[in-house]
Amino acid sequence: MQKPLPRWIAHRGGGSLAPENTLAGIRLAAQLGFKAVEFDVMLSGDGTPILIHDETLERTTNGRGPVAETSDNILFSLDAGRGERIPRFAEAAALCRELGLLANVEIKPATGYEKPTAEVVARMTAEFWRGASVQPLLSSFSLEALEIARDLAPEIERGVLFELAPTDWLAEMRRLQAVSLHCDAALLGNDVLAEANARGIPVLCYTVNVPEKAKMLFERGVSALFTDRLDLFSPKQLLTKACI
Ligand code: G3P
Ligand code: MG
Repeated sequence: MQKPLPRWIAHRGGGSLAPENTLAGIRLAAQLGFKAVEFDVMLSGDGTPILIHDETLERTTNGRGPVAETSDNILFSLDAGRGERIPRFAEAAALCRELGLLANVEIKPATGYEKPTAEVVARMTAEFWRGASVQPLLSSFSLEALEIARDLAPEIERGVLFELAPTDWLAEMRRLQAVSLHCDAALLGNDVLAEANARGIPVLCYTVNVPEKAKMLFERGVSALFTDRLDLFSPKQLLTKACI
C-alpha cells in the first residue's frame, strides 16, 4: 500500500460539517487539513457514476425515488444540501487530484447493478488518476465489484470492506489482491486485528466520531479511521491537541 496512509479519512466527503458526498464537503476536508476523503459512487439511470450513498434520493436530496431509475437531467437539478449539486465522479476525482487528496472511492452499486457499476468505476478510476502522484484506493462491500476492479484496473489498490470481517477475510483479501481491510469499528475483533497487524495489513475502521474511541482503536493497532466529525478530528486541530 502507498505510504504514508493518513490516520484520518473524511467520511462521505465532508462528514457532518458539509452535505455528504458533495464537492463542498471534499473542499472543506482539504481546508481542515485532511489528507484523505472517502466517498460513495453509484450509477445514475443513464449509467453516469455519481456521488451518493443511498439507493434512493429522499434522505440526502430534495428528489424522490431510486437513483438507478433517475435520469441525469433530473439528478443534476436536485439540491443535495445547502444548494450543492450531486457531483459526477469525474468532478470529485478532478477535485481530489487538484487538492492532492487520497480518495477512497467506495463502489456502491444499487442492488442488481454490481457488474456495470464496478466496470465503469474501475475503468474511470484508472483513467482519472493516471500519472497522479497520490493514487486512490478502491473499496466496496460488494466482493463481486472488487473482483471486477481487480481484473479491469489491477494497478489501482483495493481494500476489502466488511461490516464484520468474516472468518475467511484473509483468503478473500488474497483472492482480491487487496491491500487493506476496512470494517465497522464497533465489530472489530481482537483476533482479526492481531492477525492483520502481524501480517502488516492496514486496518481502516468506520465510522468513529468520539475521541476516546479513536484513541482506543489507534492504541489497539488500527491504522486509520473514517470520521464524520471533521470539527473534532481535523488534522489542524490535532496539532494543537495532545489527545490522539
Ligand atoms: O467505506 C467506509 C464506510 O463509508 C462504509 O459505510 O455505509 O458509510 O458507506 P457507508
Ligand atoms: Mg462509504
